[in-house]
Amino acid sequence: MGKLDGQVALISGSGRGIGRAVAEKFASEGASIVINDLDEGPALEAAEAVRALGGRAEVVVGSVTDPDFAERFVSTAVEKFGGVDIIVNNAGYTWDNVIQKMTDEQWQAIIDVHLTAPFRILRAAQPVISQAVKAARAEGREVPTRKVINISSVAGLDGNAGQVNYSAGKLGVVGMTKTLAKEWGRYNVTVNAVAFGVISTRLTVATDDAASITVQGNEIKVGIRADVLAAAEQGIPLGRAGSAQEAANGVYLLASPESSYITGQVLRVDGGL
Ligand SMILES: NC(=O)c1ccc[n+]([C@@H]2O[C@H](COP(=O)([O-])OP(=O)(O)OC[C@H]3O[C@@H](n4cnc5c(N)ncnc54)[C@H](O)[C@@H]3O)[C@@H](O)[C@H]2O)c1
Repeated sequence: MGKLDGQVALISGSGRGIGRAVAEKFASEGASIVINDLDEGPALEAAEAVRALGGRAEVVVGSVTDPDFAERFVSTAVEKFGGVDIIVNNAGYTWDNVIQKMTDEQWQAIIDVHLTAPFRILRAAQPVISQAVKAARAEGREVPTRKVINISSVAGLDGNAGQVNYSAGKLGVVGMTKTLAKEWGRYNVTVNAVAFGVISTRLTVATDDAASITVQGNEIKVGIRADVLAAAEQGIPLGRAGSAQEAANGVYLLASPESSYITGQVLRVDGGL
C-alpha cells in the first residue's frame, strides 16, 4: 500500500528537476499524476518514468502562464482521473538582474509564472474541490484531506541580490498560501509552501557550464558562478546543495497523510541556511 494510493496529483513544471522528482516520489506512493511542462519531450519522459513506477500519468504540455492553462490542467485531472487531491505549484525559472537593469518584461514574466499562474490554477480547482466536498457530505462520506503545496524560495523569504522579480513572486506565493489555508480549511484542504535553498538542478549549475535556457523565445542565462556556488555551499550548515530527490521529499512530507493538521506553513528545505 502506498501512502498516496488512489490520489490524483497535479504537478506543474514536472518535466525536469524538482517537479519531476516530486512526480516520481508521489507515483512511487501510488498517486496518479497530471504532468505539465513547457517542453513536450521532458514531459513525455516524466510520464514514462511515472508509469514505470506503476503510476498513471497524463500530460498537459504548455506554459502555466497561458490564460486558458489552468482550466486545461484541472479539467484533465477531472476527466482522466476523476478529481483533484494534491496540487503542487512548481513550474518556474529565474531571469535575474539588478533593479536598474531589469526590464518590465523581465519583472512581469517572473511574476506571471511564480504568482499569477498558481493563483489561476487554484482558482480553477476551487469549484472541483467544493463540489467534491459537498457531494461527500451529502452522502455521509468522510471528507478526505486534500493538499496544496506551493513552491517558494529562500530568495523570497530572505531576499537575494539580483532577484527583485523572483523574490517578490516567491514571497507573494507565501501570502497566497496563508490566505488559502484560511479560505479552504472548511474543505479540509491543507495549504502550505516549501521554500528551497540551493537545490542542484539546471537553474543552479555552475555557470562554467555556460548554462542558458529558452523560455518562450527568450534565451535566459541560468546557473551560479562556480566560485559563488562553492562559497554558498560553505555557508550551508549541511555543507552542500540538496538533490532534487531531497527537495521532493520535503514536498512529500506536506502531501503525506501524516501532515493532515499542518496548514498555512512555510517549510524551509535548505540544509539549514
Ligand atoms: N533549484 C533551486 O535551487 C531552487 C531554489 C528555490 C526554489 N526553486 C523553485 O523550484 C521550482 C522548480 O525549479 P527547478 O530547480 O526544478 O528547475 P528546473 O528548470 O530543473 O525545472 C523546472 C521545470 O519547469 C518548467 N517550466 C518553466 N517555466 C514553465 C512554464 N511557464 N510553464 C510550464 N512549465 C514551466 C521547465 O521547463 C522545467 O522543466 C521553481 O519554482 C523554482 O523557482 C528552485
